[in-house]
Amino acid sequence: MSEAPQSMASIDHVNVRLAQRSYPIAIGHGALETGWEAIDLKGFSRVFVVSNPHVFALYGERLMRAVGARHADVRNVLLPDGEDQKSWQSLNQIFDALLVSASDRKTLLVALGGGVIGDMVGFAAAIYQRGIAFVQVPTTLLAQVDSSVGGKTAINHALGKNMIGAFHQPIHVLIDPSVLQTLPAREFRAGLAEVIKYGVALDATFFAWLEENLDALNAQEPPAMREAIKRSCEIKARVVADDEFETRPQGGRALLNFGHTFGHAIESALGYGVWLHGEAVGCGMALATKFSASLNRISADEAERVLALITRAGLEVEPPRIAPDVWLTHMARDKKNERGRLRLILLDAIGQSSTDASIDADTVKAFLAGH
Ligand code: NAD
Ligand code: GLY
Repeated sequence: MSEAPQSMASIDHVNVRLAQRSYPIAIGHGALETGWEAIDLKGFSRVFVVSNPHVFALYGERLMRAVGARHADVRNVLLPDGEDQKSWQSLNQIFDALLVSASDRKTLLVALGGGVIGDMVGFAAAIYQRGIAFVQVPTTLLAQVDSSVGGKTAINHALGKNMIGAFHQPIHVLIDPSVLQTLPAREFRAGLAEVIKYGVALDATFFAWLEENLDALNAQEPPAMREAIKRSCEIKARVVADDEFETRPQGGRALLNFGHTFGHAIESALGYGVWLHGEAVGCGMALATKFSASLNRISADEAERVLALITRAGLEVEPPRIAPDVWLTHMARDKKNERGRLRLILLDAIGQSSTDASIDADTVKAFLAGH
């Protein structure tokens, strides 16, 4: 990966508008390096880059050089790779590195990696000395279109995914689509699930664009990739600006969780990392779509279009074998649930979804028993 950074002129910007917590997302080839031009590092005492050994071997040197050209004190700490490492133990390695080096509250953390690194670094930044600043440099498609934006940070617990965390917004997001060239195909497909999510749950125009451009995305054609990343970030930025802390009783940020109640249940029932998060979300969206059709909220034709798009992205629409009771046990731990009731995100049309807490567990169980 020795692609020369291009000028700032080739960088797109999407703004996440959250009053004093607003920040820009820079998207473009070379942003890993050139994006730092827009970040004022003078106010920070130190920069700590957090990554994993695999990603750091690929992009660490380039990033450290770019940051090092703008700050005299740049260090790094590497965490073990993998969803099953999104834990207190890994998180503590960040705090160990910060405390051993006497890093103060003016330290800037940089998350270089996928959603696992981004979520952990964000959580570390949220709670180290009651909160420090961080920058997201997402290197997977999933992280570029979703997890690096919006300030949800977390680690997993054996009893539930992302159960321990905080809202903490980054000060900047640098998205360099060229780093996706080294991403394994399976990880790329998992990222497409979150791209498709925006179209299915929130934006019919984007859904139609995806139907037209999915072959170009599967081939990772740069213009299509950049457009998909930009539009995903725009949709997410709009939703987050409207409901940062996911407190709206209807709709709002919860809609970004379309497919996730089923998906998180797959991840935790099978064990973290067996199905990738995006794979589980893809299948979860297929189940939420079929369930919406079974309740006559959407037509069979609409459901077919959604399932066809998920399938074209190389994602599974049939769930793994999980007993209905086990499904329900895991779905009952979803963070959206209130007062013991399931709160599902269901489709009302392509591009239009809503939260529904009126469906009883037996109806869901009967639906799942048929799969
Ligand atoms: P990941 O972070 O585990 O990355 C996937 C794999 O790709 C890892 O092995 C990683 O080392 C490797 N990798 C990363 N970048 C690479 C590159 N450019 N080239 C080659 N290999 C690369 O997984 P993910 O799919 O990025 O993230 C999943 C996580 O994100 C889950 O824990 C999920 O809960 C979280 N998530 C969070 C939010 C949020 O809003 N905070 C949203 C969606 C998902
Ligand atoms: N990924 C869901 C959210 O950020 O709200």
